[in-house]
Amino acid sequence: MANGTSTSDRQAPATGQILKKAGQTGTLSRREIVHLLSLDDANGLSALSEAADRIRRRWVGDEVYLRGIVEFSNVCERNCLYCGLRKGNTGLPRYRMTIDEILEAASRIRKLGIGTLVLQSGEDSFFDRDTLCRLIGRIRYEMGLVITLSIGERTREDYLAFREAGAGRFLLKHETASATLYRKLHPDSKHENRVQCLRWLRELGYEVGTGCMVGLPGQTPADLADDILLMKELDADMLGIGPFIPHPQTPLADSPGGGVQATLKMIAVARLVTRDTNIPATTALTTMDPEGSRKALACGANIIMPDFTPLRYRALYEIYPGRGGIGETEETAIARMKETLASLGRSVGKGPGDRRKEERKSGS
Ligand code: 5AD
Ligand code: SF4
Repeated sequence: MANGTSTSDRQAPATGQILKKAGQTGTLSRREIVHLLSLDDANGLSALSEAADRIRRRWVGDEVYLRGIVEFSNVCERNCLYCGLRKGNTGLPRYRMTIDEILEAASRIRKLGIGTLVLQSGEDSFFDRDTLCRLIGRIRYEMGLVITLSIGERTREDYLAFREAGAGRFLLKHETASATLYRKLHPDSKHENRVQCLRWLRELGYEVGTGCMVGLPGQTPADLADDILLMKELDADMLGIGPFIPHPQTPLADSPGGGVQATLKMIAVARLVTRDTNIPATTALTTMDPEGSRKALACGANIIMPDFTPLRYRALYEIYPGRGGIGETEETAIARMKETLASLGRSVGKGPGDRRKEERKSGS
């Protein structure tokens, strides 16, 4: 327990009161969030998870939306200390999918009835503004898919061009709200710039996704509370929250990594305070626990992202080791996901699954 939030502290509010306040107002203080993130008794944890599940049902319903993801390049010009795609990892064979390969993956997504494609890559300037705009236009207007980009930091002009070309959504995780920790982990990127990019994306009318890792070396419960508060302040539409998993070919190889329980608590609290956002059950969580997806869906998550990267490339998108599903076809993965959903009494959502905000419906 941290920051004077132990249950023996008479000043500390009780879990039940905090959960009630969250349900009624959707607002919690940093101290209250730290209290929830520090829960470790079975009763407290199940109260948290049930409260998040109720809020999820009330605000986004029982439908779970699928987003097909295509990891089109594992080339990255950055050196984030935690990531297996970092430029300094010279042991990783690099690939770039051709435009035809990307279009072919997009068409498999459409054939399986999924309305949204996430185009993800390392920060790879080979895919310049014009190349990406042409690609986006074809996928959006010839194939009719909603496009989410997840390609890192670019200029405002690039973001504007992608938006005008037909991209409706953008994922850019803030990674950690702690400026100190951010500086240590990112030798070549600035926290201010990251947040600036997120604000530009919002101004340009994207549905914006952000998020963080849980269990980074030196990360405290207060830092995690700040992650939640930043997500709320940015009014992000999508929140990707996953455990940090150490990669052997990175400087953080010997760090312990984040836990499943800690990640589930973050998902639950994020749902409590952001209410109607889209929160995926992340692949990183499933990598740490085969039941990760089911557990996340039971405490606030409402999105699953099946991987449509061709099998010959999938294992090379090695952000962290042991990624699940690298040998599994899309059909098998989706059948498995649908089974999980059915057992939870949930259904697959129809349509693009925008965040339920009328004023942003035109955003995709
Ligand atoms: N463990 C978990 N997630 C990671 N990411 C990068 N490296 C790791 C790791 N070792 C996540 C980051 C980044 C995305 C590309 O993957 O959150 O945004
Ligand atoms: Fe590149 Fe993103 Fe990995 Fe950083 S986290 S090294 S920017 S792929």
